[in-house]
Amino acid sequence: MKRAFVIGHPITHSRSPLIHGYWLRTYGIEGSYEAIDVEPHVLAKFFERLKRGEFVGGNVTIPDKEVAYALCDERDPLAESIGAVNTLVVTGDQVRGLNTDYLGFLGNLDQQAPNWDHDLQSAIVLGAGGAARAVLVALKARGVKSIRLLNRTASKAEELAIDLEGPIRAGSLGEFDSHCGDAGLVVNTSSVGMNGTKFEGLDLGRLPRTALVTDIVYTPLVTPLLAEARALGLRTVDGLGMLLHQAVPGFEAWFGKRPEVTPQLRALVEATL
Ligand code: ATR
Repeated sequence: MKRAFVIGHPITHSRSPLIHGYWLRTYGIEGSYEAIDVEPHVLAKFFERLKRGEFVGGNVTIPDKEVAYALCDERDPLAESIGAVNTLVVTGDQVRGLNTDYLGFLGNLDQQAPNWDHDLQSAIVLGAGGAARAVLVALKARGVKSIRLLNRTASKAEELAIDLEGPIRAGSLGEFDSHCGDAGLVVNTSSVGMNGTKFEGLDLGRLPRTALVTDIVYTPLVTPLLAEARALGLRTVDGLGMLLHQAVPGFEAWFGKRPEVTPQLRALVEATL
């Protein structure tokens, strides 16, 4: 039986077993997907198990993504530009690392807001951590002409903009008002919105009426940012779809079937939030 996993620490709250378990049942595939608590300092030992063929692969979550990146034998170019992996595929004694957060972000917007990238001139990205990297690479790939990367700590946004190159200009969150007049897309990649936190002083009211606002935070599903955007009549896409879509390439690589992100799957995961 093919076995896959998600590793991270802590791992009990991961929704990945629910997602992959649903697909295994739906497609009648004999396989398993289990959550395993692995801290970064024991990841090298875990990789030995991989090389012995115990698993076909799995997902990697916080705080293991960067250490796993370093341990992989091969990495896809996207993972290299992001500097972190969230998916491992084992072939023989070789471990290949992928980063599918980028595809998850795009898959979610493509499904929930078709044509969102048509003629998209200008976007604002909030936050400059690991998740911002995947989103910036995705927006660059879709040819967005101008990206404002705004972060609480502006120097981190500057470092990231230089590192990734492209049409990315860095600034502080306080600059939101002066740049939002022509922004067609606003993406929150920061952890703001989790556990009742919210941005102070961001005025979405100045965005164009056609702007799309999306958040990668999905606990809660409707973050204060999305609630404000909806109240203003702006289009919104929540972050749950990114979690579902980032799981697709891994499942396909391990079990040989490209799975679908269906409303039923979404409802199943939503019920646990
Ligand atoms: P990840 O890798 O998941 O993106 P991270 O690297 O810890 O996580 O990044 C978290 C992001 O959320 C950062 O951009 C952080 O801003 P700083 O660089 O200034 O730390 C942002 N963030 C976290 N809490 C915040 C808050 N209360 N207000 C504004 N930004 C916040």
